[in-house]
Amino acid sequence: VARQETDLTPEMIATGSWRQLPFKPYNFSALGLPPACGHLHPLLKVRSQLRQIFLEMGFTEMPTDNFVESSFWNFDALFQPQQHPARDQHDTFFLQDPAEAPELPASYMAKVKKVHSQGGYGSQGYKYEWKVEEARKNLLRTHTTSASARALYHLACQEKFTPVKYFSIDRVFRNESLDATHLAEFHQVEGVVADRGLTLGHLMGTLREFFTKLGITKLRFKPAYNPYTEPSMEVFSYHEGLKKWVEVGNSGVFRPELLLPMGLPENVSVIAWGLSLERPTMIKYGINNIRELVGHRVNLQMVYDSPLCRLDT
Ligand code: PHE
Repeated sequence: VARQETDLTPEMIATGSWRQLPFKPYNFSALGLPPACGHLHPLLKVRSQLRQIFLEMGFTEMPTDNFVESSFWNFDALFQPQQHPARDQHDTFFLQDPAEAPELPASYMAKVKKVHSQGGYGSQGYKYEWKVEEARKNLLRTHTTSASARALYHLACQEKFTPVKYFSIDRVFRNESLDATHLAEFHQVEGVVADRGLTLGHLMGTLREFFTKLGITKLRFKPAYNPYTEPSMEVFSYHEGLKKWVEVGNSGVFRPELLLPMGLPENVSVIAWGLSLERPTMIKYGINNIRELVGHRVNLQMVYDSPLCRLDT
């Protein structure tokens, strides 16, 4: 059997042998080799889907590009008292160098001090001696709500109030013991809506819309406690695989003790919620141990092979 030629060479042309040779026909349906290219990590795939959902709902992204934050923005601005257990060394990574934040907004800080120590705006406050040294302590932010506090303060500083919808998806740090589902760093997804006259009903409706877009429809709300929201609600969803209700987020209406010192108008209320990025990612990609998803034990082939993420299916 004569072998079919696949290449036309300079020699064939020079000698004229190409005239007699059998050539293999082109196969225009053959698949090419996939070009080598970059691969998004599953966390980034889920992140871009969540980002898309927020954008569809009319939210704008908040800046979250500082992992190092002052205790002031991480805790004090959020009406979290200075002796709160979450502030101590067990949960928070404090910085040694630089240990202190030099620049904090002085007149706003004075109002925060007052509402913690004496109260105001119809609140009794916590009645303790608020210390600026404590507020200056630098830390690795323990939640992205610190970025929400900064964004709301900037909003309050504008001449005229305009309703806003903000979101962020970025990394946070907590000094936790590591196990199959916990790392000392993880990502939070956070949504914030500020407008006149928002109520708990708006929060529930917004949460329903958001989670429905994620493919999570069976929702239940459970009263909870956060120092910065009142009322607060944990969000549960029915997990068909596990056949039980699992917590999928935390939410609430920001307290007036937080909004009024910033200078937001009295009739403006702010609803907000947060969830982790790792949990839905592990569920979507069937990963049981978080160390297979993040850290030095991650198998690059897993990253290459993971399909695109579609949250609504
Ligand atoms: N900051 C909260 C957390 O760390 C989440 C949250 C955000 C709660 C906004 C209420 C409002 O879990």
